[in-house]
This record gives sequence, structure tokens and C-alpha cells, in this order.
Amino acid sequence: MRSLLSVVVALVFATTGVRATEPPAIPRDVLAKADFLKGRAAFQSRCSACHALADGANDLAGPALFGVFGRKAGTKPGFGFSPALQKAGFMWSPARLAAWLADPKGYLPDNIMLIPEAVPERDQLNMISIMMVETGAADWPRPQIAAANATVDKSKPYSERFPSFWNHMMFNTVRYAWERPGQGEYVADVYYNEDGSVTSNQKGVRGFWHIVEGGPMPAMFCYALQGLAVEPGVAVECVPVAAMSIPRFNERLWQSKGYQGQVIHGGILPGRPEKLTPG
Ligand code: HEC
Repeated sequence: MRSLLSVVVALVFATTGVRATEPPAIPRDVLAKADFLKGRAAFQSRCSACHALADGANDLAGPALFGVFGRKAGTKPGFGFSPALQKAGFMWSPARLAAWLADPKGYLPDNIMLIPEAVPERDQLNMISIMMVETGAADWPRPQIAAANATVDKSKPYSERFPSFWNHMMFNTVRYAWERPGQGEYVADVYYNEDGSVTSNQKGVRGFWHIVEGGPMPAMFCYALQGLAVEPGVAVECVPVAAMSIPRFNERLWQSKGYQGQVIHGGILPGRPEKLTPG
């Protein structure tokens, strides 16, 4: 009887326990040899809109990640984690993070981290390697990179530090157009507001933006949008502030790749409608 029960328990565990299982460990020497610069670029563009790596407060949309490796999931003080993450019950290891980033919803169902797509395999090790160095979990050497803004005076507002960016982005309209084969385009006009919020002419679209600076990368303009009527409803990107500082107007100024290779066109139109309806 008891053995039958344990078989039943084992079966239940096998079906519900697919989530968050311990993946095979990633050897440290593999991580130590990963490509730091590629990892840094991947983290910048995919994660830094919501996460800081340096020690500090949780002042972005996601928890600050310093010390995350070896810490129990969902326990960084001062951050409101979802029940899914609070109940995950494991310590973050490189392998756990790789498994999650490879399948964000499948590995930890019901978590509330919205990323547009899984992190491709080619970026995972590189990204985790630099995350380990920057969050204090490893001390392997990293290439010396000239610090682009080692001494950033953060006491001044963005409007003074990045005046041409500010004048261009706070008073004009950014138009994104998603190509939808067979269905025409989905177009959303987006207004980046002075308080870091985002509004749109498309109902239900909202988001946030901020500038990530310090460290070896140039200052980056990072934004996240959600509620978009295209799969998977979310867009997250960081681009150099300099690229958004040149006053130029055209519906099609740049092109980026979205979820599963979607083509997204971006451009800037002069001015904004007087009355903005928040989404
Ligand atoms: C749009 C914002 C956003 C983006 C982009 C984002 N995250 Fe998150 N992240 C979150 C939120 C919100 C949580 C908390 C999730 C929850 O509570 O379910 C989180 C949680 C985490 C955690 C768990 C922290 C802990 O202490 O348990 C890790 C690790 C993490 N993110 C890494 C990443 C990495 C690596 C990337 C880039 C591939 C990334 N995140 C991109 C918002 C984001």
C-alpha cells in the first residue's frame, strides 16, 4: 500500500514537478571562458531596461540583481515578487538562470517577468558569465574597457545632461510599425513622457523608459512597452542615447527585430497631439 502511494506521489511530482527542476550544472571554466563583450551587449539590450547589476536599491521595474547567484529566488528585500517566484524555493545558479531564460514561462509558470522572447542559446552563457562578475559571484578577468562614463554627474536632470535627446524625444512622437504578413501593419504611436512613463494612441499600451549609464557602455535609452496588439504584446529594447538625439523626422528611420524575427520599423514624427489619452 505504502509503495503504491509513493508511486502515486512520484507520478504527481513528475507531472507537476516539470517546472523548475534542477538542470545539469554549468562548469565554471566554461562560464569563465565565455565572451564578456557579447554578454555585456546582450544584457544591455535584453535586461538592463529592468535590472541593475551593481549593488543598490530596486529602483527599476525588476529587482536589483547584485548577489543573486546563491540567493533564494524571490527573496531580494524590498521587491514585490510574484507568488510564483516567492514559492519557487530554489537558489539561483547559472544553470537555473539559463533554464529560465531559455523558457521564461515554461520553467517558472506564472512569474511576472515580461520579456519579449526567450534568450537565444548563443547569448545565454555569455550573459550569465558577465552577470556573475558584475553581481559578485565570480572574479574571472574581464577585458579592460575604457570607461565611457566613469564619472557621470547624476545630480543633474536628463534635460541638462542629454539636452538634444530630451528635446527630441520628449516633445515628438515615436511611431512603431510591426509587419504582420497577410494582415497589414500594426502601428502604435508612442509618447515618452518626462516622468519616465509612456503613453500611446493605441488603447491599453503602456510602459516606461529610463537611461542606463555608467560603466563601459555609452548611455543607453531603454524602454519597455506592454499591451501591444502583436505577439507577444511586449517590446523591450535599449539603444544608445546618441542615436535618439539627432533631430530627424521620418516614419521609417530604423528597423529592429522583434519576437521570432518580426520586423519592426521605427521613426519619429514632429510634435504630439495636444490631448493624450493614456492607455
Ligand atoms: C520588462 C522588465 C524586465 C526585463 C526586460 C527583464 N526582467 Fe528579470 N525580472 C523582472 C521582474 C518584474 C521580475 C520579478 C518576477 C516575479 O516576481 O515573478 C524579474 C526577476 C528576475 C530574476 C529573479 C531575481 C530574484 O531575486 O529571484 C532574475 C535572475 C532576472 N529577472 C534576470 C533577468 C535577465 C537576465 C533578463 C534579461 C534577459 C531580465 N531579467 C529581463 C523584470 C524584467
